[in-house]
Amino acid sequence: MDSNYPSVEHLKVKAMRTVPKFAFEYVDGACNEKINFHKNTDEIRKIELKAYYLRDYEGSSMKTELFGEIYDAPFGIAPVGLQGLMWPEAPKFLAKAALKHNIPYVLSTVSTESIETIAELTEGKAWFQLYHPRDEKLTDDLMKRCEEVGIKNFMVLADVPTFGYRATEIKNGLSLPPKITVANVLNTLIRPEWAIRTLSYGIPEFKTMTRYMETDMNLRELGEYMNNTFDGRLNEDSLKRLRDKWKGNLIFKGIDNLEDAGKVYDAGYDALLVSNHGGRQLDAGEATIQTAREVVKKFKGKIPILLDSGVRSGPDIARVMATGVDFVFLGRTFMYGVGALGERGGDHTISMLKLQLQQVLEQCGCKNPQELTTRLVK
Ligand SMILES: Cc1cc2nc3c(=O)[nH]c(=O)nc-3n(C[C@H](O)[C@H](O)[C@H](O)COP(=O)(O)O)c2cc1C
Repeated sequence: MDSNYPSVEHLKVKAMRTVPKFAFEYVDGACNEKINFHKNTDEIRKIELKAYYLRDYEGSSMKTELFGEIYDAPFGIAPVGLQGLMWPEAPKFLAKAALKHNIPYVLSTVSTESIETIAELTEGKAWFQLYHPRDEKLTDDLMKRCEEVGIKNFMVLADVPTFGYRATEIKNGLSLPPKITVANVLNTLIRPEWAIRTLSYGIPEFKTMTRYMETDMNLRELGEYMNNTFDGRLNEDSLKRLRDKWKGNLIFKGIDNLEDAGKVYDAGYDALLVSNHGGRQLDAGEATIQTAREVVKKFKGKIPILLDSGVRSGPDIARVMATGVDFVFLGRTFMYGVGALGERGGDHTISMLKLQLQQVLEQCGCKNPQELTTRLVK
C-alpha cells in the first residue's frame, strides 16, 4: 500500500490532477444534479455499528464464499465501460490486481479490453457483464466466447434501458456520438503522462465488440452502432431466455425494487445485485442501501444479495454487510485508484480497503464480515 494515498478521497484528488478533465468527469459524473450519486454514500454512512472490546477474540478472516468459490475479501470490482479512458490498460491492471488478491473483476461489454485477454489474465476467473443486445445472435456469440475461455459468472445489466441524462458528459462530448472539442484537446495537453501513454497504447476502443463492427466507422457511426446494438430493456421473457442459455452462474444487475427482485428470483437467477449504476440513471431514485434492506428482509438466505453504488471505504463495506448484504462491488473507487496510480492503482486500492475492513472487524470483535450483522445498531 502507498502511504501517500491512504483513502479513496486522496486517490480521487490525485486522479483529478493526473487525467484530463473529460476523462475524470466521465468517471466521477452522474445523472442530472448528482443527488442519487451523493445519497448512495450518505445513506450507507448513516449505518452505525457497536464496537466490543471485552469479548473473546481470536482474530478474523475476510474470506467469503460466493457460488462455491472462496474469495479473499467480500468485495469485487464492478464493470465499468470505457475503463481505458481513465488510464490506458486500466482493465488489465485491475483484472491482474483482482487475481492477485483473489477477488472478482467484472468485465463490461463495452470495456476497452476483450473477453479473451481478460480471461487469460485472470485464469478464467473474471466475470462478464452483458449490455442486452437487440440481436439474440450477438448474445449467443458473447456467451459462447465467455464459455470458451472458462468464464463462469455472467452478469446481466438491466438499468440502462436508455442512458441517464449526464450533463457533464454531454458538455464534454462523451455522450454518443462523442465529439472532439478544443477544450478536450487542450485538457489532454496539460496531462502529459496520460497523453503519452494513451498515444503509445492506442486510443481506447471497445475491444470485445470490435469484431462485430465495421472498420473505419467515424465517431457518429460508432455512436449510432452502439445505440442500435444494445436495447437494454428486459422483461420476464428475455430474463427466462437468458437463464435458459447460460449454464453457469447468472447475476442480475440493477435491482431497484422488490417486484423486480421477485421476477428475477422466479426466473431462477443465482444472485441479485442491488445497484442504481452509481447514481448515473435516475437522480430521483433511492439509495441502494435502502432498497437492499427491503431485499434482505424478503430474500436473505434464498439467493445471494449483492450491492454496489456509493461504497468508498472499508467501513462502508462493513456498514453494508452489517445489513445482511452478502457481497459488495465498487466502481468509481477502483477507477480513482487506477487514475491516480496507474498500474499500481488496483493493488493499492484493494490492499487499502482490506486493511480498513480488517480494522473494523477488530474493533467490533467479529471473526468474519458475516458476523457484522450482530453489531448493527441501526
Ligand atoms: C464511468 C462508469 C462507467 C460504467 N460502465 C458500466 C458498464 O459498462 N456496465 C455496467 O454494468 N455498469 C457500469 N457502470 C456502473 C458500475 O458497474 C457500478 O454499478 C457503479 O459504478 C457503482 O457505483 P460506485 O461507482 O459509486 O461504486 C459504470 C459506472 C461508471 C462510474
